[in-house]
Amino acid sequence: MQKKIVLLPGDGIGPAVAEAAASVLQQVADNFSHTFKFDKKAIGGAAIDSAGEPLPADTLQACQDADAILLGAVGGPQWERNPPHLRPEKGLLQLRKGLGLFANLRPVKTFPSLLSSSPLKQEIVEGSDLLIVRELTGGLYFGTPSERRNAGQTVVDTLLYERKEIERIVETGFQSAMLRNKRLASVDKANVLESSKLWREIVDEKSKDYPEVAVEHMLVDSTAMKLITNPTYFDVIVTENLFGDILSDEASVLTGSLGLLPSASLRDDELGLYEPVHGSAPDIAGQDIANPLGAILSAAMLLRYSFGMEEEADSIEAAVDNVLQSGYGTQDMHVDTANIVGTARMTSLVIEQLMEAKVSS
Ligand code: IPM
Ligand code: MG
Repeated sequence: MQKKIVLLPGDGIGPAVAEAAASVLQQVADNFSHTFKFDKKAIGGAAIDSAGEPLPADTLQACQDADAILLGAVGGPQWERNPPHLRPEKGLLQLRKGLGLFANLRPVKTFPSLLSSSPLKQEIVEGSDLLIVRELTGGLYFGTPSERRNAGQTVVDTLLYERKEIERIVETGFQSAMLRNKRLASVDKANVLESSKLWREIVDEKSKDYPEVAVEHMLVDSTAMKLITNPTYFDVIVTENLFGDILSDEASVLTGSLGLLPSASLRDDELGLYEPVHGSAPDIAGQDIANPLGAILSAAMLLRYSFGMEEEADSIEAAVDNVLQSGYGTQDMHVDTANIVGTARMTSLVIEQLMEAKVSS
């Protein structure tokens, strides 16, 4: 198959991990006789510097014309004092909104070989395997424009959801649960927020279409607690934008490192944006120490969700598993000091596994 992938390296460690993921995809293309055409475009701080805005029109256009998009990360201290429309993060938010990527899937799975690097006790975290389905284009992030009134003494952020926006993400939550263990935790703050009350109504309506799925309504505060006291309790969590942002960072450390986690941002057709959950980590940029595995596993999600290439996606995940089982890790992963490798070496280890898999197949 021939596919067009837009590569958005972004800022900080973004370029290094995006490059790593692209080289892994190239190996998969060789192994399975596909052609992936990569088109590199600017986003975030890098785009502010080169084009004067965080999401240049030609970047958005290329993404619209692509089969899939792979992003590194955006943000950095040099743009922190910029006005809101010239912040790197704005580029990412505009891209999500501009492409209508409303469903953000963030799987969190513990790797048996890394259990000891979790901040939680091994017996608590062992067997954790959950999926956060986060609404990505509504809520507080995209309400009527935020403003300061009363000489800056009053601030307004608006939490706005349309019924159809809630319906479609709740639908994704149910569909995801059907593909897994058929348990869905719908997370809200219905004891306070009107938006959460509508959210609950919609979940109850939709649950009639999915009689096999066991649904539970949970409040976001107690969910945050349960995630660290009993993470294996969860299968699929579906929640609104800001709650999903916070809970997914919390869940991400269960595995021992944020650096390992992939994500997919999807809409109703095949186009998707894939990015590691970690940020741009400017403090470690350019040192060849960033963990490329979050980006590499995002590339696996890209193959699975945008290209329908199950076997190809599995091959990346198996390669990563093998590398981890051999004891290797990057500096964020608490492996034996002797087994700590840099970004480039970690990437080669994964590619070597893929090459071996090809030879033995
Ligand atoms: C994420 C990030 C973004 C978000 C930032 C960079 C705008 O934290 O993808 O979780 O809040 O959505
Ligand atoms: Mg976040």
